[in-house]
Amino acid sequence: MEPPGAPQPPGAPQPPGAMEPPGALLRYRLLLAVCWVVAAGTAAGEKTPPPPSNLHYSFIQICTLNWTWNPPENVSSGCDLKYSSDIKIDNVAQDKREWSKSRFRVTDTFLNREMSFGVRSECEYNATSSYSEWVETTLLPKGIPGTAAVDLSCIWHNLEYMACTWYAGENASSVTNYTLFYWFDGLKNSEKCSNYSVHGRTFRCTFNLSFPKGTSTYPPISILIRDGSEEIRPLCTSKNPTTLVKPATPRRVTLSKTNGEIRVEWSGPDTFPEKCLFYEVEYHNGDLHNTQTIQVEKNYTSIPSIDPNSKYIFKVRAKPKPDCYSSELCSDWSEEKSIGEKTDSTFYFVLIITIPLIVAVSTIILLVYLKRLKILILPPIPDPREILKRMFGEQNEDSQSCAKDDSVNAYDRLLKEEEIHSLILTEAPACAISEKENR
Ligand SMILES: *[C@@H]1O[C@H](CO)[C@@H](O)[C@H](O)[C@H]1NC(C)=O
Ligand SMILES: *[C@@H]1O[C@H](CO)[C@@H](O)[C@H](O)[C@H]1NC(C)=O
Ligand SMILES: *[C@@H]1O[C@H](CO)[C@@H](O)[C@H](O)[C@H]1NC(C)=O
Ligand SMILES: *[C@@H]1O[C@H](CO)[C@@H](O)[C@H](O)[C@H]1NC(C)=O
Ligand SMILES: *[C@@H]1O[C@H](CO)[C@@H](O)[C@H](O)[C@H]1NC(C)=O
Ligand SMILES: *[C@@H]1O[C@H](CO)[C@@H](O)[C@H](O)[C@H]1NC(C)=O
Repeated sequence: MEPPGAPQPPGAPQPPGAMEPPGALLRYRLLLAVCWVVAAGTAAGEKTPPPPSNLHYSFIQICTLNWTWNPPENVSSGCDLKYSSDIKIDNVAQDKREWSKSRFRVTDTFLNREMSFGVRSECEYNATSSYSEWVETTLLPKGIPGTAAVDLSCIWHNLEYMACTWYAGENASSVTNYTLFYWFDGLKNSEKCSNYSVHGRTFRCTFNLSFPKGTSTYPPISILIRDGSEEIRPLCTSKNPTTLVKPATPRRVTLSKTNGEIRVEWSGPDTFPEKCLFYEVEYHNGDLHNTQTIQVEKNYTSIPSIDPNSKYIFKVRAKPKPDCYSSELCSDWSEEKSIGEKTDSTFYFVLIITIPLIVAVSTIILLVYLKRLKILILPPIPDPREILKRMFGEQNEDSQSCAKDDSVNAYDRLLKEEEIHSLILTEAPACAISEKENR
């Protein structure tokens, strides 16, 4: 493999100005592929320093390497020695060249990709500079290709905890137990994430991540996902937490109406430094096409000039301010709250219930009423013979019985009078007799 920064054929992506001295750059531009070999040779000359030796690396954190090397031997006395180092990932230069006098360099590592680290000695003489060949070490990924975790994404919820999700690699067996480790500058040792949930091939783990409230800069978070087995390829990545900030959902949204205004108030997350959040209040009065959005910094606002006969529906969400965080993530919307008259929908609902009821009740009343009306207008037709019978038959019977009664009565009376008379007649002598006897 070619050392990073070594001369490459024209058209290669490496920026020539980054590694060649200005004179060499000019020649590089002017001459063709064959010529720059000569140019490099001329620049190196006889004063070319020997390369550094004994290049090796060690992990100083889960995803951090310390590359160290020994100085070149027999450097000529006039040389102002420096080291130039560079990184290639999967054989592609990363544009991360550095120059320094120290004999180590700390870099991130990826573990699921091939990483090459190259270093060379550079001597500056009065007007010219020369450099050694590159010394290079390559870190090959372990495990089977396609078994590393994929699509890792993390969200820093409310500056309180980090939630990361990822999927199993396509070649990972279904019993793969990925484990997440994290570390950032300030933690002595890496921590193991322990709050997992697994759904099929989707993995999720959350861990607490919070800093003192005054903190304004946050260290990058190194994340390593691996499995105990050698077959599963590990994955290392570094996340900038300020790009992952997601505030908590505003709670306790309250609405009140005063002087034709609606006042909205809510309680926002209290984990954020002051003036690092703003809120979006969205409202509409039943018509979703007429939704209004306003942005406020406090935890309340007032909506003037409202229609007093409408119902208004509100919801609120929080957003990080760009001055504090470079995150585009908003909180979830709060629950919806409403104020004002009931909308037409409830009115129609009432109508739908009552109209059939009224119709049914009035139909029944009408039917009953009609039956009575029928009796009044069309009474049952009586039989004329019956009427005649009643009119005449009953009268005859009455006169006959009366006459009979009279004659009978008269006869009876006669008899009674006769009896009375005879009584009187018969009584009279007795009295006379008794009167005579008493005397
Ligand atoms: C890297 O290793 C060198 C040599 O052992 C040591 O001097 C240096 O402090 C290490 N760097 C870090 C950041 O640990
Ligand atoms: C450095 O110089 C010494 C003697 O001056 C010599 O023995 C040695 O081989 C040289 N080393 C290299 C790497 O050129
Ligand atoms: C999965 O394994 C197959 C066969 O070993 C290989 O061809 C394929 O590239 C692997 N998938 C990935 C994403 O590397
Ligand atoms: C994964 O973890 C579960 C429980 O923690 C264990 O039963 C299982 O054997 C593990 N699988 C592998 C492949 O290590
Ligand atoms: C684990 O995570 C869930 C949400 O993913 C959370 O509700 C729960 O409180 C967490 N448990 C611990 C011990 O942190
Ligand atoms: C709005 O913020 C103030 C001051 O931060 C707080 O006292 C008040 O309780 C908050 N309102 C609600 C509804 O929580």
